[in-house]
Amino acid sequence: MSFKNMIFLSETDSTNNYANQLIMTGTAEEGTVVLTLFQNRGRGYAGNSWESEAGKNVLMSLILFPEFLDPAKQFYLSMVVSLGLCDVVSAETPGVSVKWPNDLYVNDKKIAGILIENSVAGERFSSAVAGIGLNLNQVKFLSDAPNPVSLCQLTGKTYDFQSVASNIAIAVQGWYNKLKDGKFKDIKNQYLSHLYRKEKWALYQKGNCRFEARPAGIGEYGQLLLEDRSGKITGYMFKEIEFVY
Ligand code: BTN
Repeated sequence: MSFKNMIFLSETDSTNNYANQLIMTGTAEEGTVVLTLFQNRGRGYAGNSWESEAGKNVLMSLILFPEFLDPAKQFYLSMVVSLGLCDVVSAETPGVSVKWPNDLYVNDKKIAGILIENSVAGERFSSAVAGIGLNLNQVKFLSDAPNPVSLCQLTGKTYDFQSVASNIAIAVQGWYNKLKDGKFKDIKNQYLSHLYRKEKWALYQKGNCRFEARPAGIGEYGQLLLEDRSGKITGYMFKEIEFVY
């Protein structure tokens, strides 16, 4: 895949919706990036909305056709997008990590979120839309998101969202090409090396039960493997487990 064209919209409901529509009409090419200044219905994980002040941040969706990928390995797409984003943000600030499954953190604050929407036809992947929201120049956050931060708040610089978006597309493309080449181990190891709270004991919550654990790896299907104080390792799917602050 090479990153070919960027569709720039001054406003849209959600770049993921726009990208999905392009795919449905059969007019999308792999590597197309949809970028906007403002989303009036920006979507976050699990039905949440995504806050972004007009013109301040990166709001983009990347169109992929990962037909080569076994749908059982779809978490690898999350990993390659997280790693590309990690590369770009790490070039500007230290302390970057990926909070499983795919939030980008700087120290204990969230700087970016990823929303990947896959479409599988039978036993094969047909397409994927990788939506990325990266806080760049916004300095006031109004939603009840617990711990947002922007790159500008961390570095004091003002960023050009268009050039940051193309750097992200290029970085993700590099990781995606590794995935195409079957470099699963390399991708997983890199993702693990960037994992938030890696090797650190911290509190987690499952239902009403709180326990101390530390990340021990990522399971075959993208589950977070946590080791508890007794040495037992358990895999958790997204939303099955919460990080306690
Ligand atoms: C999260 O909840 O952390 C995921 C947020 C993803 C936001 C991005 S912004 C661009 C793309 N379009 C959307 O509507 N959502 C994603």
